[in-house]
Amino acid sequence: MKLKLEQLKKEAHTRLADFLARAEKAPLEAQEKFRELEAQFLGRKGELAVVLKDLKGLSDDLRREYGELANNVKKELEASFLEISQKIKSKTPSAEKIDVTLPGEKVAKGSLHPMTIVQREIETLFSSLGFMVLDGPELESDYFNFEALNVAPHHPARDMQDTFYIDQKNSKGEYDLLMRTQTSPMQVRAMKKYGAPLRAIIPGRCFRSEATDARHEHTFYQLEGIIIDKKINFSQMKGVLDLVGKRLYGEETKLKMRPKFYPFVEPGSNGEYTCFLCGGKGCRVCKNTGWLEIVGCGLIHPEVLRAGGIDPEEYSGFAFGFGLNRLVMLKYGIDDIRVFNGGDIRFLEQF
Ligand code: DAH
Repeated sequence: MKLKLEQLKKEAHTRLADFLARAEKAPLEAQEKFRELEAQFLGRKGELAVVLKDLKGLSDDLRREYGELANNVKKELEASFLEISQKIKSKTPSAEKIDVTLPGEKVAKGSLHPMTIVQREIETLFSSLGFMVLDGPELESDYFNFEALNVAPHHPARDMQDTFYIDQKNSKGEYDLLMRTQTSPMQVRAMKKYGAPLRAIIPGRCFRSEATDARHEHTFYQLEGIIIDKKINFSQMKGVLDLVGKRLYGEETKLKMRPKFYPFVEPGSNGEYTCFLCGGKGCRVCKNTGWLEIVGCGLIHPEVLRAGGIDPEEYSGFAFGFGLNRLVMLKYGIDDIRVFNGGDIRFLEQF
């Protein structure tokens, strides 16, 4: 019996090898032949089944021994047949005819997020003016987010920007990590890294702990800008911001500067553009003022330049921070800031 099984195994292998050699030349016919061959060895009335029948007449011990052997042979053959069947299948051209005149399957096309569209537009503009585009950490230290920007630990200006503090100490054992409330911390980081003269914009995500509503969101975007050189003045800043307004909202757009306090600039200012919707006449969007508050800006405070290792006697500069969400909302007439992070595909599909 042992011999029979061995012979059977050997024969099956030779036949399979032989078969495979021929199958390579005519894969379609081979499929048919393969089924015959499989039935001959492994089928219900196949050669292996015949040998197995003989097991019945054996003693318990022998039945166990040969039974196991027969089972192994069966498994081995099944595996070989499976392998060969897969081999010929992969070589067989599909019998299905392909109708090349049928319309193809539509591939769903995504689109850019409106924030990305406007961000890129501004990046292109500033790159053409010789600005670098930088990136900064969202997880910031208290030092860069506040102190280096002239906001002392207990200064009331901190109340304007409450954020999410991180429950982990730094190497000095202090709790000083937070989610940045603004892109401004990159001002000092950039100064330290590149020195003066410097021209950079920094778009990025910011966070504040606020109750959300149509105009406030805990996660939003800003676009910071900084320029440092000899003899930089306020009118140059106005020129640059004027250009941004015209580029985004059209040539007729005017810029108005109003004084505003920010701890890291002196003088500080708020830039307003003529409302793109009513052209300055007054409407719902601009709350009948004809102007829209868009950008915080000012001449960089000497303390901030010093924190960045730059001598304020030699250099001066200006900085500005756009609320990027705001720019996008106004450009596309979006009336709720929460849609940006809402993940609703119907909103995104419109761009
Ligand atoms: N970081 C300020 C804010 O979040 C905006 C700002 C104001 C940025 C004045 C500046 C600046 O660079 O000079 O409200």
